[in-house]
Amino acid sequence: MARVLSGIQPSGIMTIGNYLGALQPFVQRHATDECVFMIADLHALTVPQHPDVVRARTIDAVAMAVACGIDASRAIVFVQSHVMEHALLSWILTTMTTMGELERMTQYKDKGQGQVSVGTGLFVYPVLQAADILLYDTDIVPVGDDQRQHIELTRDIAKRCNQKYGDMFVVPQGQYVDRGTRIMSLVDGRRKMSKSDASEGAYIGLLDTPDVVRRKIGRATTDSGKDIVVDWEHKPEVSNLIELFAACTGQMSAHIVAQYEGVGYGAFKRDLAEAIVACVQPIQQTYARIRESGMVQQWMDDGAQRARSIARQTVRRVTERIGLVPGDGHLGV
Ligand code: TYM
Repeated sequence: MARVLSGIQPSGIMTIGNYLGALQPFVQRHATDECVFMIADLHALTVPQHPDVVRARTIDAVAMAVACGIDASRAIVFVQSHVMEHALLSWILTTMTTMGELERMTQYKDKGQGQVSVGTGLFVYPVLQAADILLYDTDIVPVGDDQRQHIELTRDIAKRCNQKYGDMFVVPQGQYVDRGTRIMSLVDGRRKMSKSDASEGAYIGLLDTPDVVRRKIGRATTDSGKDIVVDWEHKPEVSNLIELFAACTGQMSAHIVAQYEGVGYGAFKRDLAEAIVACVQPIQQTYARIRESGMVQQWMDDGAQRARSIARQTVRRVTERIGLVPGDGHLGV
């Protein structure tokens, strides 16, 4: 049985990109593996946020993770800041990471671009993510393609620590799905679909109503032609809509291309919108039931307790190897 871990920042209502690229593949491993899912609230603090917004979004994210199919009684679902070992291991790993490695991270470059001063949290963000993963002796990390660089860094840090201190960490592997690992913005096919995009038309939120989905897909950027073909270089937006269609319905892109040959964008977009509605509606119904049930706090508490018991063992192993004196409290001894 592999240990599988993934996480999401509570930085807005999850998008269909989050679902298809990460949540759905994570849920598919439930039956066979030991699954750990984390709401990365400490990561969300790396960009300015109102405290009330962080609080509300964290709770929304737990409810949404479960609505997407994560079974909180089977998988461990928890909030990152509830397990203090993340911050401790993150600091230890920071001492094992170079400036050069972090400077090469594209997410830091993108998010920091144009800012007069960039917070150090944004800079060391990938180290905290490495701690999230290594704390749980994780084998597999199902994530979208945009996380590839962070997973590679985590592997490098783990290998470096293992070389220096003997086998300290499991070296994890990223898992990237074939369809849906990189859903792009609906208005700019060269940018990732993101829940923090300033333009709502750029993404499909998992709570978007059928009418909103239809409107957003209807207005999604295409081009002046009418060919429905996968051509990422010349037709990134249409290629993205085909990819989205394929990921929502579990079909191959080639099948969709063949089906809509010579049909034009109108009918294609109408069917795509209905496919998205069919994908998100069951999630919305479950989400509404969860919000009424008042179960979220109990899941968070239970998840934190179970996560902590694994994290503490790792911290004990790590601190001993690197020479920190065992003590009360933070070392969990
Ligand atoms: P976040 O919150 O940006 O996204 C959560 C997950 O959704 C995937 N994803 C996408 N997949 C396909 N197409 C898209 N347009 C798209 N947008 C997002 C992301 O790749 C991710 O898998 N740093 C992480 C959160 C995190 C984490 C971790 C993940 C913190 N610690 C440890 C895995 C393991 C993040 O910001 O994800």
